[in-house]
Amino acid sequence: MKTSHLLLPKNLILVFLCLLYSIPTTSCSAHSASIYVTNSCKTTLYPRLCNKALSKHAGKIKGSPKLLAMTALIATYNATQTTSKVLRELRRATECVEVVGDAVFELHQSIKRLDQSRKGSRQFFGQMDDVQTWVSAALTDDDTCMDDFKAVGRRQVLARGFVYTVARLTSISLTFINNYAAL
Ligand SMILES: *[C@@H]1O[C@H](CO)[C@@H](O)[C@H](O)[C@H]1NC(C)=O
Repeated sequence: MKTSHLLLPKNLILVFLCLLYSIPTTSCSAHSASIYVTNSCKTTLYPRLCNKALSKHAGKIKGSPKLLAMTALIATYNATQTTSKVLRELRRATECVEVVGDAVFELHQSIKRLDQSRKGSRQFFGQMDDVQTWVSAALTDDDTCMDDFKAVGRRQVLARGFVYTVARLTSISLTFINNYAAL
């Protein structure tokens, strides 16, 4: 909590100096790109995890709500795929293997659909509806896995932690998707 209070004024001062002196260097745009990610992450339920996953991609996101949603979705997909692999290596996690496998598929579909979407096109709302449906389904799958998970051994506890993180990343993605859809 304390660090975020300290970060904001420092960032604001930097932006102000960039504007004041019209500093033409890339460092100003890099700073505003990272401020965009930080501020967007604050609108999610898990700002710290969000920053951890997305801040290194701030330069690529460049203040675009669509790229923000896309990058969050790809980070979620990556993590879900890794988790799916971990679960497959565990015995006794059969239900989880199945539902998290479904989540990988749903996230892949939503990445493709979000990529196709064009703001202002006739299909836009239908496309965003598909994306929201698939990502919500992925979140439900993660929850189903966690409800079901018998975390007995050390490896199970570790794997459950993976699923927990993936569920939180999915929630972050959904926040950014909803925001992009509603703009
Ligand atoms: C997703 O994984 C790919 C391949 O490992 C990696 O290059 C990319 O940076 C990752 N993307 C995100 C947003 O985490």
